[in-house]
Amino acid sequence: MLILAIETSCDETAAAVVEDGVKEITSVLASSEELHQKTGGIVPEVAARKQVEYIIPVISETIEKAQLALDLKSHHEAVSKIDAIAVTIGPGLIGSLIVGVEAAKALSFVWSKPLIPVNHLIGHIYGNFLDNTNADTIYKPVEQIKFPAVVLIVSGGHTDLILMHGHGKFEYLGGTLDDAAGEAFDKTARLLGLSKYLGGAVLSEKAAECNKNILAKTLPRPMIHENNFDFSFSGLKTAAKRLIERSLEKNIVSIAEISREFEEAVVDVLVTKTIRAAKKFDAKSILLAGGVAANTNLRNRLKFEAESLNIPVFVPPVRLCTDSAVYIASAAYFKHVDRSGVYQTAYQKLQMDFSKIKANPSLGVMDII
Ligand code: KG4
Ligand code: ZN
Repeated sequence: MLILAIETSCDETAAAVVEDGVKEITSVLASSEELHQKTGGIVPEVAARKQVEYIIPVISETIEKAQLALDLKSHHEAVSKIDAIAVTIGPGLIGSLIVGVEAAKALSFVWSKPLIPVNHLIGHIYGNFLDNTNADTIYKPVEQIKFPAVVLIVSGGHTDLILMHGHGKFEYLGGTLDDAAGEAFDKTARLLGLSKYLGGAVLSEKAAECNKNILAKTLPRPMIHENNFDFSFSGLKTAAKRLIERSLEKNIVSIAEISREFEEAVVDVLVTKTIRAAKKFDAKSILLAGGVAANTNLRNRLKFEAESLNIPVFVPPVRLCTDSAVYIASAAYFKHVDRSGVYQTAYQKLQMDFSKIKANPSLGVMDII
């Protein structure tokens, strides 16, 4: 079964074709990041206008590449092979979401193909389920991920701990009470003068310059000892700001040293709470998802801590940590199609009524759609 997915929740315009929820046939992504670097952040209006420009070329290129990958004769034949269209309906920026949702509705209507709405956060989780090829070896995580799985979603806008009992069966364990982990990375990177926009990866590269954390435990590890699965990162960001003002400006410590301590504070809290949840709920797997899942320190620490518990940790390939349409297709497949490729009834009803498929910027991870 082939699904064409569209993802426009933030500043990216992405489309992908995925087979049976696990095999990436092709993926195309256009970003307006350069523009946002200039303005120091996303201007939603600017992002949405660019997405209006990019959406048709991106979808068209995706179909062209799928045609080549599947060795088909024409664009038309590639379109005819697509079984369904999936689209991110939220959370995200309203203007950006509308561009993707309305384009998907139009294609679904014109091509007479079912339309599957996807929650972006659930989509992130499915970055873990795709086949990935390393040299000549194909890894099939879908065959190895056992339930219940504890899932840590860490993105620019969200930090949530979920217990996944199976496809479509999610139980909320906790989440951030204020800033998301990615947001804290971005704001601290900005305070350190490393990057005006989405500085998490840059801060992490800087942190890697220090072999030893000479500032160890200078910053707080918020809520680490609290007996719940919630997080709070805004106080940590404020403490980092004070540390920067106190020491960096007086040349007492370096940007790399502060970056390292900040990253360790975030990773300490995320890993401690995830491992605690895995123990409490007797998890058979741990899954990491979202943009911050690209963080090497977080990936390594989580694997290291889970090893002694004998719980396998799954992380998406780095390019499937940040926004992509590939895992939106995968989430759509596992949401509405059973393993034999049969459509479920609820889904057949849904495809008849486009008015129920709407962009929803404030969708939470537990909002069933
Ligand atoms: O999931 P995502 O692409 O967008 C949202 O859905 O929010 O996540 C973006 C977030 C940004 O905050 C970015 O700085 C952070 O992920 N990020 C990282 C790294 N790569 C991306 N944070 C820490 N270390 C990284 N290597
Ligand atoms: Zn995202």
